[in-house]
Amino acid sequence: MFRNTLFLNNTCRYWSTRTLFNTSRVFKLNNKVRFYSTKISQNNNKNQYQNNNNNDKSSFRDEAKRLFKLLKPEYRWISFAVFCLILQSTSSMFVPKLTGDLLDLSNKYILKKESNEESENTLNYTDSGRMKFELWGLSETQFFSVVGSVLVVGCLSNALRLIILRTTGERIIARLRTRLLNRIFEQDSKFWDKNKTGDILSRLNSDCVVVSRSLTNNISDGARSLFQGSVGIFMMLTISTELAGSIILFLTPAVVISRFLGKRAKTISKKVQEKIGEILKINEYQLNNQNLIRNYSAERVELVRYSDSIRNFYKASLKDVMNSALAQSTNQILGTTSLVACLLIGTNMVQQGHLTAGELSSFAMYAIYSASAFAGLFNFYNEINKGIGSYSRVIEIYDKKPSISPYKGTKDIHKVIEEYNMNNKDNSVPIVEFQDVKFSYPSRKEVTIFNHLDFKINKGENICIVGSSGKGKSSLLNLLFRSYDIENGTIKVYDEDIKNFSLRKYRRHVGVVPQEPPLISGTILENITYALTDSRNKKRRFTEQEIAVAVEKANCTDFIKSFPEGLNTKVSNKSGLSVGQKQRLALARQFLNNPDILFLDESTSALDGVSENIVVSNIQKRSSVEGKTTISIAHRKSTIKFASRIIVLGDDGKVAETGSYDELIAKKDSKLNDLLAHNMQNL
Ligand SMILES: Nc1ncnc2c1ncn2[C@@H]1O[C@H](COP(=O)(O)OP(=O)(O)OP(=O)(O)O)[C@@H](O)[C@H]1O
Ligand SMILES: [Mg+2]
Repeated sequence: MFRNTLFLNNTCRYWSTRTLFNTSRVFKLNNKVRFYSTKISQNNNKNQYQNNNNNDKSSFRDEAKRLFKLLKPEYRWISFAVFCLILQSTSSMFVPKLTGDLLDLSNKYILKKESNEESENTLNYTDSGRMKFELWGLSETQFFSVVGSVLVVGCLSNALRLIILRTTGERIIARLRTRLLNRIFEQDSKFWDKNKTGDILSRLNSDCVVVSRSLTNNISDGARSLFQGSVGIFMMLTISTELAGSIILFLTPAVVISRFLGKRAKTISKKVQEKIGEILKINEYQLNNQNLIRNYSAERVELVRYSDSIRNFYKASLKDVMNSALAQSTNQILGTTSLVACLLIGTNMVQQGHLTAGELSSFAMYAIYSASAFAGLFNFYNEINKGIGSYSRVIEIYDKKPSISPYKGTKDIHKVIEEYNMNNKDNSVPIVEFQDVKFSYPSRKEVTIFNHLDFKINKGENICIVGSSGKGKSSLLNLLFRSYDIENGTIKVYDEDIKNFSLRKYRRHVGVVPQEPPLISGTILENITYALTDSRNKKRRFTEQEIAVAVEKANCTDFIKSFPEGLNTKVSNKSGLSVGQKQRLALARQFLNNPDILFLDESTSALDGVSENIVVSNIQKRSSVEGKTTISIAHRKSTIKFASRIIVLGDDGKVAETGSYDELIAKKDSKLNDLLAHNMQNL
């Protein structure tokens, strides 16, 4: 199980900038081979898998059809694998016939020796006095050469089939994961409010593996079983219709039982995968919060939580095992009974002269082949059902249409900026405008965060937004980035409703330093330049000088120099830097990026006085010298007094007041004075 939990295993590393960032369907495996993948589903709009109940009701045929569509880009390889399989099965299926005929031939020799009779064709003598071997019209050398060649071809075909299936399987997994991840990236914040990372990880990993396995190895095994079963039954009918009929009669109940158990396997497998998802959810939380668990001495609580989830998984797996064991033992009992019955009836027929001993042994061997083929077919049905169960979990996310799609908007931000600059020669058109905005979070509809919220920000302003905790300052950022849609009103940026923007380009254009800036696992330099692209979405290159200036503006130079490896020092989200250092790195990234609109969410809250002064004065220069707009959220007096204007959020989800620092401080009853007296740091 845990093998499957690795996000991307070695055999399936993929890199897919085009797939991840636009709709093009190209991805690479190991950076060498290009593949074009078809869509996971042809009916995205139908949202078939919206809930599990509907899912259970949809017919096996529809679900299987949908699953098999994944094979479309691989049909050539799969057909080749099936061809190899037929070669291999043919070579093995001719062994019973060979055994029976050899047995009958040796019987004839024995009888001949006993009766000393002459045989015209098969029992001639060689020069050395040995009886001449002749079977199927071939001499001894010819016969064994043919048999040897057939067996070698069978072995080679098997090896080829295994290689093809393994590589095809890995390609299917890679394609499935890439497309699923792309769809996950398209999801909006509403999706992330509901879904937990662990569960998504389990869909991306173990579910994709189950789907691929059910489509490759399983299809091959199923095809082999079908072929072996058909040939086996045909050969049995050729040898003796009577005997074959009695065996088929015995096997009928097994078909009915298998169908029932196969359907159960689908439901059980889905449950097992859900439990794996739950374990991963807990794992993810525990591994990400080691410090908290240690500091709160919550190890025992967490162990109990973990073992409870393991127990639930164990119970679900047990059902899976029981179902498989029941199916296997039923098949075995019915298979053995029919074989014994066949031998009893067959011996009787040999005694009555209706069958030779060789024919009976060939028949028995074909019966065993057919029985194992039947068990294989049951397994095929079982595994396909498991595949469908897992695929429905993958599709559940894949079919989820985000309410805010990154592809819906049509307006290109760069064209909008050009128009805005033409119309804004006198700086009278706001660069950011909230008009009568009403908003509540989808997961907590009853709490209104903003109502009739109106404010304007002009180009080049250095705005500070203040308000007591929980009043919605960070929510403004969510709305500006269109992480959530508003219920009423309009948000305009560059005099254009943000709903019209092509979202990814728009978001790339606005800079942000969040309240708790995360670090990517990599060097300090990689963190500073992370995902900075130009207007054509090409990675931007920076000179050492540019990086040094940005680092200096965020007052990072000293602490970076104190590390022996400087900018190449490895850092990660959990270790390596203090909160203040993380904030400064995130600020350095934005000084390097130098966006026209920058949003800072308490991004100097952990800085000491010296660092804060340096950063704040550089932000001020962005406005006064470069004419760029900055919107900062701050709690400290030392930060807000440098703002060109302050917007104070009130208790009723509206703007309480706005004005310069001096203007608002001068009013004795201003909301700002009230906040400074009670809620804010007077540093
Ligand atoms: N994803 C969310 N889902 C539901 N409610 C949320 C979500 N995020 C924030 N809230 C709620 O919205 C309100 C405003 O939160 P927000 O984070 O915007 O406040 P804030 O002004 O930034 O506070 P602080 O100064 O403490 O950072 C809070 O009541 C919070 O509980
Ligand atoms: Mg906040």
